[in-house]
Amino acid sequence: MSIHKKDFKKVTTNVLQEMKRNGEKIGMLTAYDYTMAKMVDRAGIDVILVGDSASNVMAGHETTLPITLDQMIYHASSVVRAVDRALVVVDLPFGTYQGNSKEALSSAVRVMKESGGHSVKLEGGAEIIESIQRILTAGIPVMGHLGLTPQSIYKFGTYTVRAKEEEEANKLIEDAKLLEDTGCFALVLEKVPARLAQKVAESISIPVIGIGAGSGVDGQVLVTHDLLGMTHEFSPRFLRRYLSLYDEITGAIQAYVQDVKSVDFPNEKEQY
Ligand code: KIV
Repeated sequence: MSIHKKDFKKVTTNVLQEMKRNGEKIGMLTAYDYTMAKMVDRAGIDVILVGDSASNVMAGHETTLPITLDQMIYHASSVVRAVDRALVVVDLPFGTYQGNSKEALSSAVRVMKESGGHSVKLEGGAEIIESIQRILTAGIPVMGHLGLTPQSIYKFGTYTVRAKEEEEANKLIEDAKLLEDTGCFALVLEKVPARLAQKVAESISIPVIGIGAGSGVDGQVLVTHDLLGMTHEFSPRFLRRYLSLYDEITGAIQAYVQDVKSVDFPNEKEQY
């Protein structure tokens, strides 16, 4: 069932917080372009993330590090043009906010002005708190991101589950509280043990959206291309595929190539 404009209320940061209070789970997915964002929004998703995973999914890079602020703004503005209902969150890319809160503010302001996005997401806890504070002073809503933070992949060395040990788990709980106290409206927890994620979700009042973080959190996020089976080489345990579009699309294109070569396409009805 798709949703029509008059039937819905726009999702805001307040709506998400109300959903947490009411125990209503939050659905979040990525989009990087107009066509996909339109389908995701019409299908009733609450939050659309213009993730820096565009660096992997759209550009074919191995990590999220190479994507630039200009490229994120291009993706985000395409998404915003398609969206009527969902809250649009835009990732600030690597190197545009760490260690320099003035640069962080100017990056966030560029995203908001040039893309029309509704909020930004930053990876990290205490070490980026000054940047988050400064962005918040401009009235820009901030979503946090803890656990596996792909922009720090060269520090971690692997994409395996984070915070399995007590010390890292305690630091994550402290960071989550700090992000809440600082004024973040929500938090993504990526690839951490389900019990820890649930504990975090129960100990803070802002929504916790999980990816590979179990069901005890306030919502779930996936990369849409993974869920649709377009990225068939990526198969983490937390991923549920709802379609196998890689096979469907290559099959359709093979059929088209065959039809062109055999002059079956275009037929009488497909020409002027
Ligand atoms: O960039 C992204 O897609 C993300 C999600 C995996 C949460 O940050």
